[in-house]
Amino acid sequence: MKILGTGSALPKKVVTNDDLAAFLDTSDEWISTRTGIRERRVLSEETLQSLAEAAGKAALENARVAPEEIDFVLVTTVQAETLSPALACDIQTALGLKCMGLDLNGGCTGFIAALSVAEGLIAAGRARKVLIVSAEALSRFADWTDRSTCVLFGDAAGACVVGEGEGLKDIRFMSEPRRDVLCASTPPGNSPFAVDPAPAEYLKMQGQEVYKFAVSHSFKDIQAMLAAHDLQPEDVDFYVLHQANMRILEAVRTRLKVAPEHFPHNIERTGNTSSATIPVLLDEMNRAGQLKPGCRAILNAFGAGLCTGTALIEF
Ligand code: UT7
Repeated sequence: MKILGTGSALPKKVVTNDDLAAFLDTSDEWISTRTGIRERRVLSEETLQSLAEAAGKAALENARVAPEEIDFVLVTTVQAETLSPALACDIQTALGLKCMGLDLNGGCTGFIAALSVAEGLIAAGRARKVLIVSAEALSRFADWTDRSTCVLFGDAAGACVVGEGEGLKDIRFMSEPRRDVLCASTPPGNSPFAVDPAPAEYLKMQGQEVYKFAVSHSFKDIQAMLAAHDLQPEDVDFYVLHQANMRILEAVRTRLKVAPEHFPHNIERTGNTSSATIPVLLDEMNRAGQLKPGCRAILNAFGAGLCTGTALIEF
């Protein structure tokens, strides 16, 4: 399976660290030093659906694939526009698609999980081309009174069209269930039969626990992928990691002993947009002409679950 084209869309509203310091006990200095984030985009006029449609349309155009060629749409999202129907169904009218659509919630690892599902659909002969859209609106369930979490997140959609061909070499996952360190709940509903329903809560995170998990597992996952394919760290052109914290990227990079130009990042402009970070970054790299034929990348994401996903891919 190979990536045929990419797309992305960000909300118009730019929220700087100073904007946050206007209503939270925080500062540009704290946020940029601890995370690398300087600003993020947040939904205001748009809907998540409109972002997903814009990213999907851009990916179809970039791949030069007509809507009728798409056999399956996979949307990755932690929280779609509605519980039902799936966002993958809602975006089809605007994109001119008429195929099965499915939402997947793999947390920040969602995009890599979707690559794996698409690979299975294509290998089984059930699809020739699949549209993947990772669309996330963390601004809707972040707690905007909690300075330790809300400053980290942004909203975005990234997309790609995948199809038959040589490109994806391997995908691996790892899971260590830990809902105690990263969790956001859904509304409890109003069933008269529910006994002691849990109240709805905004996103809660023990940042340091997730940080330690991310650094140690990212590094181990990447090392395992390199070893399985008899590669040295310098044999990989780009390490496209989930954009959660610049310090995490730097810690993994220095352990691998590779130069900064092999670790692309956009977290300073986007913040953490969950499963959208990797496809948005891939789209920026693609449009900047960095994903040349033969270029090799390792994708690695980590997050809620806790789980991680790692993919080795050639363009
Ligand atoms: O997508 C995957 C999910 N998420 C992640 O990958 C996040 C991983 N974790 C992290 O990126 C970092 O742990 C954070 C950025 C969340 C936090 O950085 P930290 O260096 O681990 O800070 P900390 O939690 O140890 O907090 C240090 C201090 C605390 O004050 P005291 O107790 O030392 O007085 C916090 O209350 O910084 C305080 N603090 C803040 N101060 C100013 C926490 N948030 C803020 C803030 N502004 N926004």
